[in-house]
Amino acid sequence: MTTTSTPGLDRYAVAGNPVAHSQSPRIHALFAQQTGQELSYERLLCPLDAFASTVQAFAAAGGRGCNITVPFKFEAHALAARLSQRAQLAGAVNTLRFDAANDGGWYGDNTDGAGLVRDIQANAGRQLAGQRVLLLGAGGASAGVLGSLIAAKPAEICLANRSLDKAQAIVAAHLAWAEQHGVRLHASELGSCGSSFDVLINGTSASLAGAGVPVAPSVLAPGALALDMMYGPAAAPFLDWARQHGAEPRDGLGMLVEQAAEAFAVWRGITPDTTAVLAGLRADAAAR
Ligand code: ATR
Repeated sequence: MTTTSTPGLDRYAVAGNPVAHSQSPRIHALFAQQTGQELSYERLLCPLDAFASTVQAFAAAGGRGCNITVPFKFEAHALAARLSQRAQLAGAVNTLRFDAANDGGWYGDNTDGAGLVRDIQANAGRQLAGQRVLLLGAGGASAGVLGSLIAAKPAEICLANRSLDKAQAIVAAHLAWAEQHGVRLHASELGSCGSSFDVLINGTSASLAGAGVPVAPSVLAPGALALDMMYGPAAAPFLDWARQHGAEPRDGLGMLVEQAAEAFAVWRGITPDTTAVLAGLRADAAAR
């Protein structure tokens, strides 16, 4: 069920199915080394019908917290006794901290959106304030990041999806938050989302289905940033398309490292420096 751990260390894990290819153990090991924190970070493969019991057993065996990946972010939301505001908005949790009952019980957070925004602004060097943003997809990936995107105060966010009703439901859940931040938030079908967005974010799984990019190139303003939340081969068709149409392509590796840094801070109270960690992952990916 778990990979190796060292006795006596604070234990953390990434819980999901599958987890074999997760980069999180490596990222958190580098953060721990950099910050001098003594911890271990494992892979926790959860049977599809036994997420809660697997995570509870890990906590009972000394686990201090876990990251949650596909397909359990909604179940993790239900497991938390307390939720951050961004996890409440997302309706999904990617970080659990196993606080004792007399400290309020398990705390659930969602660091995906903060990771995405930080990657766009700090790593890609694009400020979101006042920009027009097109977010594709209305599954867990998009729902998880929308609250943080709104908080970065772009002028407009269009959430476009193949099934309009799903986009409308997510927009409805975020409307008050958008109004509070002065953001024009609306839902659209993929074919009628408009044109010339400054930032395009792909949160669909269309490329996994071999379906290509589900919008016309006219959605891109000249020199737009086009970011796929996936990385590796899954992101390649979107990134190639973006390059062909004059956009700046960006994969989800930076978001992965940044969301991990936020999770590390939730657990350890210290925010690691992501620059060298991201550069190391990129160098490895290029060498493959
Ligand atoms: P996740 O939790 O990873 O976001 P998901 O909930 O399965 O995964 O959502 C996948 C998203 O990709 C959905 O928005 C889906 O559109 P629908 O809501 O209409 O199903 C979108 N998607 C998947 N395949 C697609 C394709 N071929 N073209 C366009 N959108 C696609």
